[in-house]
Amino acid sequence: MQTVKMNNNLEIPQIGFGTWQIPEGKVAYESVRYALEVGYRHIDTAAAYGNEVSVGKAIQESGIAREEIFLTTKLHNNDHGYEQTQEAFWESLRKLGTDYVDLYLIHWPNPIASRSHWQDANRGSWKAMEEFVEKGLIKSIGISNFREHHIESLLEKAEIKPQVNQIRLFAGEQQRPLVQYCKDKQMVLEAYSPLGTGALLTSSLVQGIAEEVGKSPAQVCLRYNIQKGYVVLPKSVTPSSILQNKDIFDFTLDDKQMAQLDAMENICGPTQNPDETSF
Ligand code: A2P
Repeated sequence: MQTVKMNNNLEIPQIGFGTWQIPEGKVAYESVRYALEVGYRHIDTAAAYGNEVSVGKAIQESGIAREEIFLTTKLHNNDHGYEQTQEAFWESLRKLGTDYVDLYLIHWPNPIASRSHWQDANRGSWKAMEEFVEKGLIKSIGISNFREHHIESLLEKAEIKPQVNQIRLFAGEQQRPLVQYCKDKQMVLEAYSPLGTGALLTSSLVQGIAEEVGKSPAQVCLRYNIQKGYVVLPKSVTPSSILQNKDIFDFTLDDKQMAQLDAMENICGPTQNPDETSF
């Protein structure tokens, strides 16, 4: 599996299996089991997704050594702050049935309980996360949905620089200034909703390129993000799609196709939660 190097020299597999919107229980268990069976070695979950128990069970019962799997989870918005983060992290470990995670992210920059103190709340969370890194319980730490000013605030006190920022990225949703900012700070970009939660698959531009390269529209969208250097996190509960979404390393989009996708309009609407990041 192709990997990207983070600023702490650890490698992250460039394709991860996204589990947002996969319901806890049988569906989450079977989807993750299948993803692992067909070769995914990177699973992305979050406390807020409510499926950590099934994700963890699928990993444990996969028969694959834990250290061969890159596992990400995220701090829920209710749990910002130093002590709350400690508790939330232990709870995630317990639910996942593992004794470490490869990547732990602050899921959103805005704590629900103390929005007016978001700077301190995020710094408190970060300090707790840094201590877990010291103890070897987290290998890498990062953020999600953070914009430039949220990152600036975090960096004022951070001892460990964020290794990744996981944001909404796809053809049509480029977030160019934020992407450039993160690159300048040596952060890996992780792309969530790389298929525009499915909406990109009916775009005539994407479909036309798919025909040109003899691949599916989903594979074109994913390949686009891979060529941008992003880690890409497609979600599916359908075995044929799970299989096809990782089969994107045997073709290349040429400069013209990349430029066409770069110029694409956002057909999926604005970022899901504009209020969440615009404060
Ligand atoms: P499903 O989960 O029913 O298989 P995103 O990763 O951008 O959030 O997009 C996820 C959406 O795209 C889900 O609705 C998922 O459907 C669908 N999807 C994922 N992979 C494919 C694929 N290869 N072909 C068609 N639809 C897909």
